[in-house]
Amino acid sequence: MSASAPDPSVLGIETSCDETAAAVVGADRRILSSVVASQVDLHARFGGVVPELAGRAHLELLTPVVAEALERADALGRPPVGAVAVTCGPGLVGSLLVGLSQAKALAMAWDVPFVGVNHLEGHLFASLLDHPDLEWPLVVLLVSGGHTVLVLVEGVGRYRLLGQTLDDAAGEAFDKVARYLGLGYPGGPAVDREAVHGDPGAFSFPRALLDDGYDFSFSGLKTAVVRTVDKTPDAPTADVAASFQEAVVDVLVTKARRAMAATGAKGLCLAGGVAANSLLRRRAEEACRADGVAALVPSLAMCTDNAAMVAAAGQWRLAHDGPSPLSLGADPNLFLSFTGQSSSDH
Ligand code: KG4
Ligand code: ZN
Repeated sequence: MSASAPDPSVLGIETSCDETAAAVVGADRRILSSVVASQVDLHARFGGVVPELAGRAHLELLTPVVAEALERADALGRPPVGAVAVTCGPGLVGSLLVGLSQAKALAMAWDVPFVGVNHLEGHLFASLLDHPDLEWPLVVLLVSGGHTVLVLVEGVGRYRLLGQTLDDAAGEAFDKVARYLGLGYPGGPAVDREAVHGDPGAFSFPRALLDDGYDFSFSGLKTAVVRTVDKTPDAPTADVAASFQEAVVDVLVTKARRAMAATGAKGLCLAGGVAANSLLRRRAEEACRADGVAALVPSLAMCTDNAAMVAAAGQWRLAHDGPSPLSLGADPNLFLSFTGQSSSDH
């Protein structure tokens, strides 16, 4: 690389929840390496993420994970990358701080720019990494353990909030129902696996707000599952799981489809951990085919937390807004900033 051309490669670091991840993304958003160390086994016996344990595990895992990401990317230059990006929120504060401190230290040691990334924007960039030739505008359904939002993306970095959950996130509903049904942790994949053997029409669970706007509500559905199991303890678990999953996916796809029709979106993009759900992926693809729009369904690796999406979002933020100050702190409640009328709410 010549002295005048800045190195476009970005090291991304992600420690907002229970995945310790590092990745290097180069020019044209090419993923040069992506390493994810999952803490699932550590938290499984507690039935959920234990923040204190997550923070300590990130401390142990992050240095070797970063070293492996640099090695796999063949990042041998001095400095090895052109910038360092890190998730600064939302997430668990103790976990976020581990990533932030490491990212700042590396940026200072290598004398390269440092940039903080919103985890939710990272999930949106995951789709860009998988589908570089997107056409705008797009409706993005971002469904994770902490968030359920329907966003109109008018272009890179231009987001309009259409709706969001009023109570539980979709992933949270999957996790809680899985725990109640004794299916273990993490709940989403467990319900997905169990539902394969069940009858999705066995129980007619409520679809809250189905025909009413773009907001979501899943807490009534969760309560309905608990009541049904209490009343009919012999009901096959697979039937309950399949009927629950059917209700969640029905609401998600119905609203996303209505949002696309209302906004003239050219496609539907799924993002976040719940986008790994097999029924959601299938139904989203069927709906898009029927409506003649593009279905942008990310690979499984790009649905769940990873650092390639953080590096890609950081690369764009850096070009667009410049570096973040080294005084940047962790914000556990950071939300996306929206353009347009909806932005006043956030
Ligand atoms: O995006 P993510 O990895 O972390 C957060 O930022 O929250 O999402 C994790 C969530 C968990 O609630 C998990 O149960 C859910 O995604 N999930 C799934 C599936 N795989 C992961 N939910 C339904 N079906 C799946 N196959
Ligand atoms: Zn996430």
